[in-house]
Amino acid sequence: MKSKIEELLNEIETFVGESKEHVEEFRIKLLSKKGKVTELFDEFKTIAPEMRKEVGQALNQLKNKAQDKVNELKEKFEEQGGGNDQQVDLTLPAEAVTVGSRHPLSLVRNQIVDIFSRIGFTVSEGPEIEDDWHNFTALNTPADHPARDMQDTFYISENPDMVLRTQTSSVQVHIMENSKPPIRTISPGRVYRNEAISARAHCQFHQVEGLYIDKNVSFADLKQTLMYFAKEMFGEETQIRLRPSFFPFTEISAEMDISCPFCKGNGCNICKGAGWVEILGCGMVDPAVLDNCGIDSKQYSGFAFGMGVERITMLKYQVKDLRLFFENDVRFLKQFKPAL
Ligand code: DAH
Repeated sequence: MKSKIEELLNEIETFVGESKEHVEEFRIKLLSKKGKVTELFDEFKTIAPEMRKEVGQALNQLKNKAQDKVNELKEKFEEQGGGNDQQVDLTLPAEAVTVGSRHPLSLVRNQIVDIFSRIGFTVSEGPEIEDDWHNFTALNTPADHPARDMQDTFYISENPDMVLRTQTSSVQVHIMENSKPPIRTISPGRVYRNEAISARAHCQFHQVEGLYIDKNVSFADLKQTLMYFAKEMFGEETQIRLRPSFFPFTEISAEMDISCPFCKGNGCNICKGAGWVEILGCGMVDPAVLDNCGIDSKQYSGFAFGMGVERITMLKYQVKDLRLFFENDVRFLKQFKPAL
């Protein structure tokens, strides 16, 4: 009998009621007229007189424990409102479900990817911690090249050969090293520069790089591709203008302006009266870069371009301070809807 009491005590201890019904089942199993505890009380009548005191005490304890456990669990379910007797008031107003929104930079990045994928560009990515070769040297920017000063680089202190990439142009190098033309790809990603944070500059931002390599790719192909992009992104009436420029990895190089999307070219404070705003750098991939990356520059030519996602987003949505993109204030973030 003692071992039966022991066993039941253990059962009570470990019982976890999953619902009000479950607890009621448990009560019936132990404490009802045919319950196990009640049965033990019946059996108690038959035991030897000298054992009565000890077993009687244990039995009473068992019964109390069982009752306490049942009461405790019933109370818990009643509090949670899980009982049938507590009706849910269906007329109460429902709690509002707040739906999140995409970050404006993600919206614009996705739109850029979508526009280029419609004309056959794939998407590729590369590492953010990059070696000197991929970020600079292969891109025609050896150690002593003055163009390195154009970008304030974060070097990794343990290994001065490694940098936080300053431009997604580094992905071009990986792609050319690892695949054969024709290549038509864009590479979105984060880049880093050691710049003081202000309304117009940040130490981290996002770029999308484009690369097209095949036989007989010409500057006309580049211009047509970028015109298509500008019109898709900023509207059919958008004009483009290419200005000669310099980048170490392209020859010839250009910067592209679009007609100001706000004043339509008439001059306003966004375009500082010019009627044009700059949106990207581009050019024909320098033959030396093709050769550095294992592509025969006598057979193939190509174009490349690189744009800042923050810049495009600021122009598209009239955001005046770059820092807003990184503060994660939901009052700012929830204003943006996909443009497509
Ligand atoms: N990597 C350049 C920058 O960060 C942008 C760029 C210019 C990329 C011209 C290109 C290009 O691919 O052809 O300023």
